[in-house]
Amino acid sequence: MVNKTFKIALDGPSGSGKSTLAKNLAKRYGFVYIDTGALYRTIGLFVCERGIASDDVNGIISCLPDIKIEMKLENGGGAVYLGGKRIGNEIRTPIISKYASDVSKIPEVRAFLLETQRAIARENNVIMDGRDIGTVILPDAQVKLFVTASPEARALRRYNELKERGEDVSYEAVLADMQWRDANDSGRKIAPAVPAEDAIMFDNSGMSIEETVENAAKIIDKVINL
Ligand code: DC
Repeated sequence: MVNKTFKIALDGPSGSGKSTLAKNLAKRYGFVYIDTGALYRTIGLFVCERGIASDDVNGIISCLPDIKIEMKLENGGGAVYLGGKRIGNEIRTPIISKYASDVSKIPEVRAFLLETQRAIARENNVIMDGRDIGTVILPDAQVKLFVTASPEARALRRYNELKERGEDVSYEAVLADMQWRDANDSGRKIAPAVPAEDAIMFDNSGMSIEETVENAAKIIDKVINL
């Protein structure tokens, strides 16, 4: 018997509120939440700690055989382990954001992470957040949402997040960083952050978190109840 799992793909640019939305939806439906950006960030961390520049493509590729990255199910989500060590907020810094965006442009890095992402979705009902989930990783996802918000709204959310964590940043710097990442992520040749043909565009600029979750759930419920 084929045991088909239910998959929800949430793609969109940084700061669009994908991860907050995904976490809330995962709780609501009892699905596993997978943050695929954390995998790229972890590769970025490894490379950065080795002292390799983020644009040194050959240097980054030559590191891959040494990287032991795993995703384990913990508390309803996918926790990332690097060389057996649980990865936490050390990947959530501006420098590692830049590294993650740069390493994610390298086809070998994307191929390296592909199976880790697909394997989890084969065994579990998942809600996966990323850039290429609907187009490359889970093209057969039953629901695909492409989550967007204006650059200013996204920068403000990210700025508030960093401030809450005690980081010393300015709104202008966060906005500039976000615009750089948008161009870097959507302009790249491989798996650019663009909506799948069958994705539903979901702009949450003026919505609260609750409204965002309720509106997304309405879309998902229609498919689940088919
Ligand atoms: O979602 P995030 O901001 O944590 O992702 C960090 C970087 O990783 C982002 O700049 C683009 C890249 N990324 C990607 O290319 N594909 C994914 N599925 C997820 C993230």
